[in-house]
Amino acid sequence: MDHQQTPLFEALQLHNKVRPISFHVPGHKNGGIFPQQAGQFYQPLLSIDVTELTNLDDLHSPETVIYEAEALLTDIYQSKQSYFLINGSTVGNLTMILASFKENDIVFVQRNCHKSVLNGLKLAKLTPIFIEPDFNEEWRVPTGISKASIEEAFQAYPTGKGVILTYPNYYGFAFDIKSIIDFCHLHDLVVLVDEAHGAHFIAGDPFPPSSLQLGADIVVQSAHKTLPAMTMSAFLHVNSERVSRDKVRFFLQALQSSSPSYPLMASLDIARSYIGTYSDIDKEYLKQQIKGFISELEGISSIRVLSHTTSGGDILKIAIQSNQGLSGYQIQKKLESVGVFTELADPNNVLLVFPLLKSKVEFRLFEITNSFKLALEKKATERTKSAKISIPKTKQTLTSLMVGYKVQEVTPCKIIPINESIGKSSAEMIIPYPPGIPLFMEGEEITVEKVEELHQLLFLGARFHGGAYLKEQKIKVFE
Ligand SMILES: Cc1ncc(COP(=O)(O)O)c(C=O)c1O
Repeated sequence: MDHQQTPLFEALQLHNKVRPISFHVPGHKNGGIFPQQAGQFYQPLLSIDVTELTNLDDLHSPETVIYEAEALLTDIYQSKQSYFLINGSTVGNLTMILASFKENDIVFVQRNCHKSVLNGLKLAKLTPIFIEPDFNEEWRVPTGISKASIEEAFQAYPTGKGVILTYPNYYGFAFDIKSIIDFCHLHDLVVLVDEAHGAHFIAGDPFPPSSLQLGADIVVQSAHKTLPAMTMSAFLHVNSERVSRDKVRFFLQALQSSSPSYPLMASLDIARSYIGTYSDIDKEYLKQQIKGFISELEGISSIRVLSHTTSGGDILKIAIQSNQGLSGYQIQKKLESVGVFTELADPNNVLLVFPLLKSKVEFRLFEITNSFKLALEKKATERTKSAKISIPKTKQTLTSLMVGYKVQEVTPCKIIPINESIGKSSAEMIIPYPPGIPLFMEGEEITVEKVEELHQLLFLGARFHGGAYLKEQKIKVFE
């Protein structure tokens, strides 16, 4: 198939050419009645922000240009059927879980998963068995899981129905997912993969392989994270007959808007074309640009640069750590003071996501490295906030919920001081965001290590989702 083509985007351009008069939704009428002061930012986009008009097809029942655009997507990812999503990997994760399992099913879940996976488990009322991931001492982050841990889980729970993996992790770590997939298929377990950070892996070496190529049954990718697509746009790929396409379609139309955004969908068409035409010359250029950028950063004595250029992970992910004892949050602030905005900060790292450059595309790299030098070369004057906090590792490899989802619905809760909560079951999710991996999860036992980690994160100034009572040093638990 010709991946230069962008059928949906082209149909929108054609529609726009005739200077159409709008007596349909949305209310801004192709931008005609949009407040002037905002118009300068929105106008070009509003002209293609239309609805399911003649010749523009319908996401929930595609027959023409969206059908063609999804066929091109299916072709490049070599899946059985790929879909455009307009509510991020979030809706993809909910859909794949709801479509693959039924109530009470035992599923093995990599613990360092995004909160949308946990929300999916809860909505589907499953019985999750969590598998603690490995931990990378250099980056100080949880990474992936091994085949041995899945074997252990399956031995302990032989009625398990499937696994939910996160590959790669937020920081670009890949792991040997192929042997996990093969083991699972041997035992008739379905494999679901949250590949939110790996939509570009299909381009091949130097990126890790996509789990789609390695046989995962259903895979979700945030196109907007690493491809040039608009925020909230994502892909879902059904890759085997183990997953019911009817169920996937049902949940996609049930959970997504009946008025999906055309700018978002067209950006997915454009992003697919971008990755579908990504050449070896582009990859060579990208590698050179990353190498040059890293070597400039390595010249800054106050920081240490971590990358995946020789480790088999995602080369787009680069982390910076302080040599002066600053936390990631402190480095992030310094960079923001010179106009450099990064993907995330954690106690130890600041994470950069390098753009998936095509050959000859400039990214102001010289100016950017100068900004880094300006921000980081000065000696730190602020109080350092010991960056080397020890992220405790759980002793057990496998954990289950102390209070299952169905029991949670009928169990009263109370708010108690955090320090008195050890041994009880959390009744809320407390999620350092980003990366969005819950530290405390509803129904999970609160351990000494987790409370310690929470105190450290609060001290270092992490941002959280949930944790409504944190300001009062309290937490909601099940009675
Ligand atoms: C691993 C992972 N999965 C899923 C998501 C949700 O993706 P989205 O923002 O596209 O809904 C995120 C978001 O950061 C993520 O990091």
